[in-house]
Amino acid sequence: MNETRPSSMKRITNKKLALAFIDEQVKQIKAQVGDKKVLLALSGGVDSSVVAALLIKAIGKNLICVHVNHGLLRKGEPEQVIQVFKKEMGATLIYRNKTNLFLNELKGVSDPEKKRKIIGKVFIDVFAQEAKKLKDVKFLAQGTIYPDILESKGVKAHHNVGGLPKNLKFELVEPVKFLYKDEVRVVGEALGLPKNMVYRQPFPGPGLGVRCVGAITRDRLNALKEADAIVREEIGKLEKTPWQYFCVIPDLKSTGIKDGKRYMGWAAVIRAINTKDAVTAKSFEIPYKTLYKIRDRIIKEVPGINRVLWDYSDKPISTIEWE
Ligand code: XMP
Repeated sequence: MNETRPSSMKRITNKKLALAFIDEQVKQIKAQVGDKKVLLALSGGVDSSVVAALLIKAIGKNLICVHVNHGLLRKGEPEQVIQVFKKEMGATLIYRNKTNLFLNELKGVSDPEKKRKIIGKVFIDVFAQEAKKLKDVKFLAQGTIYPDILESKGVKAHHNVGGLPKNLKFELVEPVKFLYKDEVRVVGEALGLPKNMVYRQPFPGPGLGVRCVGAITRDRLNALKEADAIVREEIGKLEKTPWQYFCVIPDLKSTGIKDGKRYMGWAAVIRAINTKDAVTAKSFEIPYKTLYKIRDRIIKEVPGINRVLWDYSDKPISTIEWE
């Protein structure tokens, strides 16, 4: 299979070029799959969302999207996937809330790479189970983009574990495999996807699993979801938002005081960075006003957190994620 972007391919920088690309891909997808069904693991990330929207345009209900909620998605994400794809675009969407399964498998596991492996493996198991139920599906759509091909030894390959079991054989449909990320976003907008989905910041495959540092517990994970939503909302209000901005909750407690009584609570860590390629990164200068607003809101709105910290370290020496 050809894995090199054709030299004649124009860079997709505007809506007109995006619409031409969409027309071409719709034709190609129809020619490839005909009236057969196509399966897609739809995470709600930019790449799989754009692939879903393209396939819905090309083959409608014959696209079968599977959204596996591992419980480690950010606040509001599974709901948005259902709203946009099922309710607004009328997609065939199988939604599986497997939070309990993932959290049980992760119980007591604190090693980051073990956590990644478990999340990757359970995800593949759940997806493969769904695929087996749909007996006549021979095509699998994937949100592979050009940097994934170019950097097959890069960050994604290093971190992400998995791959479908050998007994599941599919022909791949990869309509955006020659596109760079900025082009995928332009195509996504032209397909009518919501801006907050198309311009979503990069989010690791294991999700909040690597931001709920150490062994994950439900209460700390819930606190993380709430605190992270506040960080994203407040930094998201800035005129120019950084590349990645999120919250981390380490597995440590410190003393707080409430109504004259001392108690132990967690510390929420704010992280905001700018980078071109994630190989090096600079801490983003969050305006003090925003920092204080985030602090006040987290302390007031998120039970269990009694301290807010700002991690303003650069990479190297600190990686972007804590795990
Ligand atoms: P680090 O923490 O290594 O992260 O500086 C570099 C970039 O990679 C993302 N990241 C991941 N992405 N699966 C992913 O798909 C992962 O397991 C993973 N771990 C880190 C991170 O968010 C940053 O953008």
